[in-house]
Amino acid sequence: MTLALFPGSFDPITNGHIDLIERGLKIFDRITVAVLVNISKKPLFSKDERLALIRELFPSDRVAIKTFSGLLVDFAHQENAKVIIRGLRAVSDFEYELQMAMMNRELADDLETVFMMPRDIYSYISSRLVKEVAALGGDISNLVPPAIQVALLKKFQTKSE
Ligand code: PNS
Repeated sequence: MTLALFPGSFDPITNGHIDLIERGLKIFDRITVAVLVNISKKPLFSKDERLALIRELFPSDRVAIKTFSGLLVDFAHQENAKVIIRGLRAVSDFEYELQMAMMNRELADDLETVFMMPRDIYSYISSRLVKEVAALGGDISNLVPPAIQVALLKKFQTKSE
């Protein structure tokens, strides 16, 4: 039974993340989506909102959704996960991702980072850009599922009121 962690901020989850989770489920028995709670970052969606939105998209019992703070490798050990999944959209992601993977290996040599590429149509999507486009009234229907689109629109409606 191989459990993989898919860590990230997920503020919010995008079609790119979803594509990677679906691909990951073809390889690993179970995936835990590990939502980083970082008190120094100010996310648009609260921890509970992010958890609920992801849960709604993945009711499968092969996908767990949990929060973590502190070191990812500590959380991986706590969960008994052997693999960390990270997405690579473009070469520009590689340098930062390699640094993180090597640092995580330095901290915990028993964990393997596995890089996965999303479908090419998702290679330009990031949570940051999705938020920016949504805040400025652009069409995000191809970038996030309907539930996330609704949640984003609500956020920006309340902000502009
Ligand atoms: O969605 P993101 O922001 O690309 O995810 C980054 C994340 C959460 C994977 C990374 O910031 C992380 O693992 N943070 C936990 C702290 C940690 O373990 N730092 C040392 C690893 S290099």
